[in-house]
Amino acid sequence: MKTTTVNEAITISSLQGDTITLNGWVRTFRSNRFIAINDGSTIKNIQAVIDFESVDENELKRINTGAAIKVIGKLVESQGKGQHVEIQVAEFTILGDANPDEYPLQPKKHSMEFLREKAHLRMRTNTFGAVFRLRHAMSFAIHNYFNDRGFYQMHTPIVTGSDAEGAGEMFRVTTMDLNNVDKDEDGNVDTTKDFFGKETNLTVSGQLEAELGALALGKVYTFGPTFRAENSNTTRHLAEFWMIEPEVAFADIIDNMNLAEDFLKYLAQYALDNCMDDLEFLHEREVKDEKTKPQIERNEINLIDRLKFVTANNFERITYTEAIKILENSKPYKKKKFKYMPEWGADMQTEHERYLVEKHFKKPVIISDYPASFKAFYMRQNEDGKTVAAMDILFPGIGEIIGGSQREERLDVLKEKCKDFNIPEEHVWWYLETRKFGTCVHSGFGLGFERLVMFVTGMTNIRDVIPFPRTPKSAEF
Ligand code: 4AD
Ligand code: MG
Repeated sequence: MKTTTVNEAITISSLQGDTITLNGWVRTFRSNRFIAINDGSTIKNIQAVIDFESVDENELKRINTGAAIKVIGKLVESQGKGQHVEIQVAEFTILGDANPDEYPLQPKKHSMEFLREKAHLRMRTNTFGAVFRLRHAMSFAIHNYFNDRGFYQMHTPIVTGSDAEGAGEMFRVTTMDLNNVDKDEDGNVDTTKDFFGKETNLTVSGQLEAELGALALGKVYTFGPTFRAENSNTTRHLAEFWMIEPEVAFADIIDNMNLAEDFLKYLAQYALDNCMDDLEFLHEREVKDEKTKPQIERNEINLIDRLKFVTANNFERITYTEAIKILENSKPYKKKKFKYMPEWGADMQTEHERYLVEKHFKKPVIISDYPASFKAFYMRQNEDGKTVAAMDILFPGIGEIIGGSQREERLDVLKEKCKDFNIPEEHVWWYLETRKFGTCVHSGFGLGFERLVMFVTGMTNIRDVIPFPRTPKSAEF
């Protein structure tokens, strides 16, 4: 049987006057007469009006929040406030009951912590419905962006023998019996006996393979899951997250910054152009939420205006060295308010990034040319011998949203880097060969998908923008 979605019923004006069949879930039921139904197709509910006098009392009792329902009736102009159409129900069927004494999602405000424990049901709330529709829209827009610009999507491996970022935060993949592992003569685990005949892990990044693709197809991008066993229980880290990694041949660090900035602006604009119903809901939610927070924790501008701000203003571009100078001249530095004192050569702390982005510039900032010592082996060495052609993009409220670099394309320099980083050449021989055969300037970056979704939804905890978060000590659902 042909059914109509809520989104179709409220947006296709030619449906008015038709008898439609609609399936969904009861959000509220009031005055024994008005059922608000949502089916996930839009944040909006449709009102279905029943004539309770003609309905069996036992059937009426089954119209509870959360129940699955099918209604058949005429779509007519609504007399009530808040909607322009409603369904005059001729016939309805409860497809699946939701016992009000047990169903956890009642029509009242639930805390985010409570809803995280109910992750199997939380997508049925307005907030999570909006978040996951926006998540989909961003995924779609990302493919659109690259397809329109001649990039090819590349599927890079999830099980890998290399540690692209060199941070050693990897999850081991093995079929060995952990209670009885094969050992070699020296008493170490004999990985030659393992499934792949070597040590393997879940990938932390598809970049190294994406580089191989870029040096053949010119412009490629990956969009895949990545895994990091960092034991950091923060609002911005997941152990399993999704990353988008474009890689472009014949592009230098400036081309890379331009691409990254244009890409983020496109995505913000896409959300504004295509997701306004959900954005308006999330914007209002944030405004209401902030009224309960102390002044200093409030955003200066709210969600929709933040998105507009990003599309309309150029990102600030500074070097790491300049950033350190700004920090050393800052009030919190002079008043010794930083927990870690900023110092040239040390990695920048969250509090430093927040100062630069939220207090000093009050806009997205691209920081480039970091010291080589705390960046990855593949980043191109600058002429000064101390810094590399790296770039991070920092967003207000999010911190680092993108990390990238120009890649070291000179074989001799790269081999030296491998030595410095204790990467045996035989582990990355295939990577090194691209520098031996037809090497060229090339660059790329990684966008953390969940951090992007945080930005476009205004959600403040990364656990609330992925359906089933994976964090230390937590892999339920
Ligand atoms: O800065 P990262 O570690 O860079 C790379 O992995 C490079 N291979 C990218 C490249 O040049 N192709 O990670 C890239 C982005 C970060 O800026 C951040 O947005 C996100 O990935 N990210 C995380 N997101 C959620 N949870 C984590 N644990 C994350 N670690 C990084
Ligand atoms: Mg990074």
